[in-house]
Amino acid sequence: NNPIYILGIESSCDDTSAAVLCNGKVLSNVVANQEIHTKYGGVVPELASRAHQQNIVPVIQQAIQQANIDKKDLHAIAFTRGPGLMGSLLVGTSFAKSLSMALNIPLIAVNHMQGHVLAHFIDDETQQKPPFPFLCLTISGGHTQIVKITNYFTMEVIGETTDDAVGEAYDKTAKILGLPYPGGPLVDKYAQLGNPKAFKFTKPKMDGLNFSFSGLKTAILYFIQKNVKENPNFIEENLYDICASVQYTIVTILFDKIKKAVKQTGITHIAIAGGVSANSEIRKTLKATEEKYGWTTYIPKFQYTTDNAAMIAIVGHLKYLEKDFSETTTVATARLKV
Ligand code: KG4
Ligand code: ZN
Repeated sequence: NNPIYILGIESSCDDTSAAVLCNGKVLSNVVANQEIHTKYGGVVPELASRAHQQNIVPVIQQAIQQANIDKKDLHAIAFTRGPGLMGSLLVGTSFAKSLSMALNIPLIAVNHMQGHVLAHFIDDETQQKPPFPFLCLTISGGHTQIVKITNYFTMEVIGETTDDAVGEAYDKTAKILGLPYPGGPLVDKYAQLGNPKAFKFTKPKMDGLNFSFSGLKTAILYFIQKNVKENPNFIEENLYDICASVQYTIVTILFDKIKKAVKQTGITHIAIAGGVSANSEIRKTLKATEEKYGWTTYIPKFQYTTDNAAMIAIVGHLKYLEKDFSETTTVATARLKV
């Protein structure tokens, strides 16, 4: 069993990340967050690509150094081809191409969403690999999907959002409440201190397995505006309860659909992935389905949920074993299907 070293590069949104895996085990996983967007209350694409330019070389150097290998030991370079912000994707893509040329090793293009799902196959004693077929609820700042995974590279999106992603619902709620970007983790934190039944928000009526979150966002905005008009201290006085009630609504929406997906497919191996899967209530609710419904659940290690390069490198590793390499003419794609 010879060691296979894969370098992964992720630059699809606002995190610059590089990771080195050896036979699917993480040797390093460096993530540089971009603070610059905080003061704008959201990701500014132009600033994101510039920050990637600044970070990419030091982040990759650090990943190789922490892995305690020489770059000549690498077998292949995996990079995020899409989906994501074009200017951001171009930085990682161009760098990956150049490095693969300089080292004369294969280049492997990776779909970011497949990366989120296949993060479950990173060799790590703290997480369990799901068996095929399984369902994965992929929830992030840009996506909300229920994916049916038949094998590593056969995935079918059986449900997805028709407007906003669930992460956006969290971030916009945070923004309305005056919390800094990205607000998801803060809403989660405060929600744990509040009463989830304090306020009621109507859930969208969506047929099938698709989601909609834009109506909820507007409902929250109107609810806050109306109450603040009557009581200027409404947010301060009810922050925990507002967060808990919003979180309760979101989690209910998500689980209504997963239950439906289980019924429809008969698959009871259920995984979560993506930045929002770091959410404490979603993790707790998923875990509880084991006893409640007899599902088997798969919750990724915290570091592999938000955007990171280890998840890109594991896809690279799996593709390397299949000799599924990419041409140097491969181009970054802002929109890319699973
Ligand atoms: O996967 P990710 O890092 O980036 C995208 O590909 O979008 O996801 C980022 C999203 C943000 O919307 C952030 O607010 C949300 O994940 N997030 C959370 C939590 N941690 C991160 N949302 C709710 N609860 C959390 N604990
Ligand atoms: Zn992501």
